[in-house]
Amino acid sequence: MARRKRGPTVLITGASRGLGLEFSRQYAADGWRVIATCRQPKAAKALAAIKGDVRIRVLDVTDQAQVRSLARALKGEAIDLLFNNAGIYGPRKETFGQVDTEAWHQVFHVNVMGPMMIAEAFADHVARGERKTIIALTSMMGSIAENQSGGGYIYRSSKAALNMVIKGLSLSLKSRKISVVMLHPGWVRTDMGGASAHLGIEESVTAMRRLIAGLKPADSGRFFNYDGREIPW
Ligand SMILES: NC(=O)c1ccc[n+]([C@@H]2O[C@H](COP(=O)([O-])OP(=O)(O)OC[C@H]3O[C@@H](n4cnc5c(N)ncnc54)[C@H](OP(=O)(O)O)[C@@H]3O)[C@@H](O)[C@H]2O)c1
Repeated sequence: MARRKRGPTVLITGASRGLGLEFSRQYAADGWRVIATCRQPKAAKALAAIKGDVRIRVLDVTDQAQVRSLARALKGEAIDLLFNNAGIYGPRKETFGQVDTEAWHQVFHVNVMGPMMIAEAFADHVARGERKTIIALTSMMGSIAENQSGGGYIYRSSKAALNMVIKGLSLSLKSRKISVVMLHPGWVRTDMGGASAHLGIEESVTAMRRLIAGLKPADSGRFFNYDGREIPW
């Protein structure tokens, strides 16, 4: 009997809730093999309830030992799509003159150094995949050109720094035919986006999955809105 072909593999960070949870759900429903990572697997009830080929693994993106240990555990496995989704906003009340530099360190650790460590640890796995794609969920708030309202120093600067890291990775990994792309999910009704956000989680994730499915090698290093519009730096 012919063996059924396995679906592609995606590894997602921050899969416990919000956009990461929905990506896990949609890719699993579509027949992908999902490696859904989160900080507290035992508490991730919604993730555990997803049907399909879903492996839940512990991963705090700021914990280099955990990142390396997961990469070792998955050694030799192909990852078609490496999804850097985990992110934090930091303090909501940030007034000029009282910026919390401790919190700033933490936001950079999660939003900037995390995706870099993950890319370093999993580049070999991605190179083995057919699709060879790394995605980072960044934000329009990281666009210097689009900053019309100021404020949000911590989050904005972290996403601007992430964009630079991702652009750099797109150049470093080009010789290995790995594409690295930045996506803004829109303003989405998650814990981070809040209840007044414009987009539902399902709508945002569906649109981003469509965009990812149509990516070409020439898109590596580019910064897209969820609807495919390119965002200026
Ligand atoms: N929602 C929006 O409107 C919006 C707009 C632009 C960009 N984004 C970006 O989209 C991504 C997902 O956002 P979201 O709206 O889904 O946020 P969310 O609902 O707040 O979820 C954030 C996720 O990141 C995880 N996380 C936080 N720190 C982590 C760490 N150190 N290691 C591993 N996982 C960690 C959280 O895990 P725990 O459950 O363990 O805390 C949670 O699963 C973020 O990068 C965000 O910046 C969102």
